[in-house]
Amino acid sequence: MTTFLNLAELAEIARQRLKPMAWAYYSSGSGDETTLAENERAWQRRAVHYRVLAEVGERSTATSVLGHDLAVPLIVAPMAFQGLAHPDGELATARAASAAGSLMTLSTLATESIEDVVAAARGPLWFQLYIYRDRDVTAALVERARAAGARALVLTVDAPLLGRREADVRTGFHLPDDLPIKNLLPAGHERLEAVAGDSGLAAYVGTLLDPDLGWKDLQWLRGVAGELPVLVKGVVRPDDARRAVDHGAAGVIVSNHGGRQLDGAPATADVLAPIVDAVGAASPVLVDGGIRRGVDVLRALALGAKAVLIGRPILWGLAVDGEEGVAAVLEHLREELDLAMALAGCRSIDEIDRGLLDPGAQAAR
Ligand code: FNR
Ligand code: LAC
Repeated sequence: MTTFLNLAELAEIARQRLKPMAWAYYSSGSGDETTLAENERAWQRRAVHYRVLAEVGERSTATSVLGHDLAVPLIVAPMAFQGLAHPDGELATARAASAAGSLMTLSTLATESIEDVVAAARGPLWFQLYIYRDRDVTAALVERARAAGARALVLTVDAPLLGRREADVRTGFHLPDDLPIKNLLPAGHERLEAVAGDSGLAAYVGTLLDPDLGWKDLQWLRGVAGELPVLVKGVVRPDDARRAVDHGAAGVIVSNHGGRQLDGAPATADVLAPIVDAVGAASPVLVDGGIRRGVDVLRALALGAKAVLIGRPILWGLAVDGEEGVAAVLEHLREELDLAMALAGCRSIDEIDRGLLDPGAQAAR
């Protein structure tokens, strides 16, 4: 078992283990990678005005999101092609997430099938959906996710086309022949081939996914999803978040796709609080992007997120040690969060409030 002091150190170990094409795909962002960098910095800029003498001898990180009891307010973000990190791919991630009392979101573009990953999970699992131009293909994915036992759908709305990730253009990103996108085998869209002068993924998305989605498509999806809740992922504006909930979304995920779509998009830490205010208490708001420390999780919850999604660090754990590596990442973040809670004067997730980041606003109340 590889040891690491922090997630930055783990990333460096992963970089040494991964093939250059996989590292480039996992680590990079779009354009000049300004949003990618800002995601991390924007959390760091928020000072935590800790409370003292708060009797923090006993603490709990337990919470619940959309009716799921979680031991930690951590959800595994949907990330494609985990077979590039480890032969067990998404199966390992699912096992580790459920063992940690976390919850995995499985990408449409997984290298394992939804049925096999749900079976590996031994706990609730969410399915992230990309809408194909062919609505029959899309509806079949939703039906399979429902039948397999996924507990919610996460509709990603920030990728009408793929952001221009220059690292992937440079490496000619594609999947090896023995790594099909298994959920798309029935539709015949399982290959991600090399394309001259472009990222194979950009070509796949441009050809097969629907860039013409509108609010009516969210309504369509809700009809197809039946009783499955639909969360909308990729929102950075209060008005879009409100509109999503008004169109029946069960929750909103504040995200700029980890700086992989529109470079120049705001850091998620900078837009979270106004979105929480616009959505109101009835629907959960989650957030991802650049969360690398337990204290970042605390900051996100203080701004009003119900839980956070963790992206790349999960892949670093997977690349370095498979299931054990993902487990180690989740445990590391749990320990850091627990310590941050103790030092900030919080015994429970409920006690993490906005006054921690803005004591003036609290005094004015
Ligand atoms: C992603 N992300 C993503 N999102 C999504 O909705 N569907 C997907 O298939 C993928 N695939 C994917 C692959 C890789 C390699 C990465 C790094 C990211 C975005 C992901 O869910 C999440 O929004 C960000 O990764 C969160 O930022 P951090 O934690 O990576 O900084
Ligand atoms: C990505 C896509 C697959 O970010 O969501 O690579």
